[in-house]
Amino acid sequence: MPQGVVLIGVQWGDEGKGKIVDYYSEQVDIVGRFQGGNNAGHTIVVEGETTILHLIPSGILHPHTLCMIGSGVVVDPEIFLHEIEVLEKAGINTKGRILLSDRAHLILDYHKHLDAARENRRAGSKIGTTKRGIGPAYEDRASRRGLRVVDLLNPERFRTRLEENLEEKNFLLKELYKTDPLPAEGLAEKYRKIGEKISPYIADVAGQLHDMVADGKRVFYEGAQGILLDIDYGTYPYVTSSHTLPSQAALGLGARLPKDTLFIAVMKAYTTRVGEGPFPTELDGAEGEHLRKVGAEFGATTGRPRRCGWLDLVAVKYALRTCGITNLAVTKVDVLNDIEEIKVCTGYRFNGEVTDRVPADTAEWEKLEPIYETLPGWSGDLSTIKNADQIPKNLKNYLKFIEDFTGTTVNLISTGAGREAVVDIKNLFS
Ligand code: GDP
Ligand code: IMO
Ligand code: MG
Repeated sequence: MPQGVVLIGVQWGDEGKGKIVDYYSEQVDIVGRFQGGNNAGHTIVVEGETTILHLIPSGILHPHTLCMIGSGVVVDPEIFLHEIEVLEKAGINTKGRILLSDRAHLILDYHKHLDAARENRRAGSKIGTTKRGIGPAYEDRASRRGLRVVDLLNPERFRTRLEENLEEKNFLLKELYKTDPLPAEGLAEKYRKIGEKISPYIADVAGQLHDMVADGKRVFYEGAQGILLDIDYGTYPYVTSSHTLPSQAALGLGARLPKDTLFIAVMKAYTTRVGEGPFPTELDGAEGEHLRKVGAEFGATTGRPRRCGWLDLVAVKYALRTCGITNLAVTKVDVLNDIEEIKVCTGYRFNGEVTDRVPADTAEWEKLEPIYETLPGWSGDLSTIKNADQIPKNLKNYLKFIEDFTGTTVNLISTGAGREAVVDIKNLFS
């Protein structure tokens, strides 16, 4: 069994990563988040109980795992504490099980206000962000104005830096965005109290993880969002503000990956996207509505209806190429049940030419017309399937088509939202 596994989403997020991380977590010691923030919404369903995690790693439901939030994550400390409270109320013991990197950057109130104000002002060119302050917090990190988790431990210095930052933020909020400025005094006091509550969780995550890896502990690295939302390799500017590629795992947790680390990408059996941006295989009519309804495609973070469409294998192949992953977990295959003919995009038409090139220019993405292959669908209840032999023939063909087109192995399929609805076709660890 490998000592490390990195899992990422290979589309525009919401591939079902949370469920798959939970599935594998039973077999590891540590689960770590390495990028993104509470823009993520990772859903786990156990015995009919739904848990949606935004910041806390999706290993938390297994009592033995240690959960780490690395320096690459932007942390809204209020959400962090709230999420712990919700978990505790649901009877999940979090004591001593969550370590928050001292180096992680904070999302503060002004980041959320700026995120929302910018989106509101953009009118026709909205990104459709989650308005959780993700972009503004990463901006402050890059421009070296950010406040970090470690700063919460020094309220006096925190206050001074906060006041300096607020001078600029309030100018923008008031003068440019015509919204209310934020009071320095109230904010400093609010974060002082939060700092007191959060201090037991603050740790040298990079150092501890390094030692634990050296000690042979098994680590699962949990990506958020998906490769097509990566800041450089996604559909810029309709992307998130972090790197969603697996190479971010070591960087965002501050420790080398174990030598025998495996990589797995999670792919939904069709495509969804929340927010704006190109989506060549989007279905506007009844077919899209069908996928949204059967797949319950509403955002786990914002509740927004997700845009739905056929599987875009050209985009997936491109995404896999950016990271070289050859193992796939294919989720939500049950949502395609009872559709007579399933379409899969295997090429694009651009300016009359056939291409499988994914352009850097987003305006070109918008103009790509999908070229489809049609595959026969399957029907029947997938929820009782426990091994690969029981998979309906046409679903097997669908998976084989995906493997052949992308040069991957489908290790696992997910046939329902619940923890048990998994068919482990080729065990990743064997
Ligand atoms: P994540 O962000 O990648 O973790 O995915 P989300 O949790 O945002 O969205 C996935 C949604 O699909 C959640 O509501 C899951 O409970 C649900 N889900 C996951 N896998 C399956 C599956 O195989 N079948 C069905 N029907 N639902 C699934
Ligand atoms: P998980 O981890 C789907 C999208 C937003 C928006 C764009 C930028 O649950 O898969 P941001 O708030 O990050 O600045 O928004 O990215 N987005 C996601 N879409 N799943 C996510 O996370 C997402 N996180 C951000 O909808 O289009
Ligand atoms: Mg999600």
